[in-house]
Amino acid sequence: MCGIVGYIGKENALPILINGLKKLEYRGYDSAGVCVMHKNNFSLVKEKGKIENLEQTLLHSNILGNVGIAHTRWATHGEPSQLNAHPHLDCKGRLAIVHNGIVENYSALKELLQKEGHIIISQTDSEIIAHLIEKFYLPTGALAEANDGDMEIATIKALKLIEGAYALAIIDKNTNNILVAKKSSPLVIGVGDEETFLASDASAIVAYTKKVIYLDDNEIASLTQNGYSIKNINGELIDKKIIEIAMTVDQIEKGGFRHFMLKEIFQQPEAIENTLRGRLALGTVKLNLQFDVSLIKRIIIIACGTSWHSGLIGKYIIEKFSGIPVEVDYASEFRYRNPIVRQDDLVIAISQSGETADTLAALKEAKLRGAKTLGIINVVGSTISREVDSGIYLHAGPEIGVASTKAFTCQITALLLLSLYLQQIKKPIDNTILVELKNIPEKIKEVLAQSDEIKKIAEIFKDSKNFLYLGRNLNFPVALEGALKLKEISYIHAEGYPAAEMKHGPIALIDEHMPVVFIAPQDEIYNKILSNMEEIKARGGNIIAIINKRDTKIEKLAKYIIKVPESINELSPLINIIPLQLLAYYIADLKGLSVDKPRNLAKSVTVE
Ligand code: F6R
Repeated sequence: MCGIVGYIGKENALPILINGLKKLEYRGYDSAGVCVMHKNNFSLVKEKGKIENLEQTLLHSNILGNVGIAHTRWATHGEPSQLNAHPHLDCKGRLAIVHNGIVENYSALKELLQKEGHIIISQTDSEIIAHLIEKFYLPTGALAEANDGDMEIATIKALKLIEGAYALAIIDKNTNNILVAKKSSPLVIGVGDEETFLASDASAIVAYTKKVIYLDDNEIASLTQNGYSIKNINGELIDKKIIEIAMTVDQIEKGGFRHFMLKEIFQQPEAIENTLRGRLALGTVKLNLQFDVSLIKRIIIIACGTSWHSGLIGKYIIEKFSGIPVEVDYASEFRYRNPIVRQDDLVIAISQSGETADTLAALKEAKLRGAKTLGIINVVGSTISREVDSGIYLHAGPEIGVASTKAFTCQITALLLLSLYLQQIKKPIDNTILVELKNIPEKIKEVLAQSDEIKKIAEIFKDSKNFLYLGRNLNFPVALEGALKLKEISYIHAEGYPAAEMKHGPIALIDEHMPVVFIAPQDEIYNKILSNMEEIKARGGNIIAIINKRDTKIEKLAKYIIKVPESINELSPLINIIPLQLLAYYIADLKGLSVDKPRNLAKSVTVE
């Protein structure tokens, strides 16, 4: 999703802006642009495509200036093009703005502005904002008012007319500051020594400062070289705390791996250790939850995509360990179906980014209806993490690859901790599970050590057109996640199914061209999975099976085998997903695709 960077200070702004944009590349984008201000003049450069295209154009430009804003755009309204790229200007070229979010009522506003004589040149909803501020800033139309000329007042008036979401940065040729505002899209201010930064997330500015302020909805801030002043949407000054963030530059580099996704797959043993750290002690689970969990009668999990898959696994494990019934909903469906939510419900929002618009909106709906809320979040300080009553941070470190990997396994780990925490109110936790949890990182390393063999399987199937992923019980969501990983980065159509459900329809698809990936640990329904495999084999399907090391039966049924260590049933998804992540990764890489930034996808989906 769009990325925003801004700088005002003593240094040349351009390199800082470009560097910041590169750190936000993982969010997904299709064009990029910058606007730097020097002696009341703008240098505005935009390009379609990668930031490298923008850099090429900038190569001989010699742009100077200590104030600037920059943007990577992920198209929503209007095709990816130079014209639609940000920053956008008002009619007179006095204001430049960058915007992340969606102006939902943009058609009505556009019509109004055009009637008043504004010339709107792009197809974007964002350009409207520049003209709307201009409308209140300069007396261009019949609606001009007495206090036109104050950018802050004009911006507040404009924002009050906008329906939808925005993180916004504005520069004005006639003032030496940057104005920023936020509603439902993230924005962070970085406080330096005689310099101030802004960005969509802290990874863009962490190389310069670790002191940040997270802007909240309906807040507007004026940034200068010497600091900031923050107001609410009514123009009243507010005081906000500076937070010291722990993120380091190393954490957001590739560290010798070919792609961030591969690095993040290999980081999983360490990431899971970080999720567990300090939370297991003397046979108990320690979580710092701010409400009385003994009052919870039902749990509702809301999430999207990969996080929804970990939620499905959460249902199995929470119900098993705590006996509390769990429902799992797509956040986007929950919010629009008039959900029944009670005061003794706990609503859990799972989100890597903590910024997903659908999850955030569903969470707000749950809060309105009186539920207690809990976040399982990776990005510290993100909007959802600030919105919930209590939270469990993953501590997985920044996840840059668009396809989520380490966040998934850490989410499952956090859900396991939560289910055991809920169990221990009623009865002591079985120590074997705590011991096994600690063993998981080593077992994952064993799977990672087989990456070359998995790559060989990827070679064989990289040109397949379809894939079926089958699993049962806890490994059904693993099948869904394996299929999602493959389709999002390799663009191969893939479906996940409960293995037994296959005979109710998808079996019609099976022939010698259909690879079928089975997740088949030796659990209580192992024999049933064997029967499902027979059904595929009888129809000529190519079976790739993820099996336990001691399994001897499946070798006779499946053509391709990946052996993984045994574990307790409830922990097995943590191990079984690893070969599926690697398979998807190698297939996409062998096809020469953009693994870390797949087409059409964004890391942080901050629009509905
Ligand atoms: C898939 C993927 C997406 C996200 C989804 C939710 O690899 O990354 O499906 O899981 O967009 O994102 P978060 O977890 O940030 O709310």
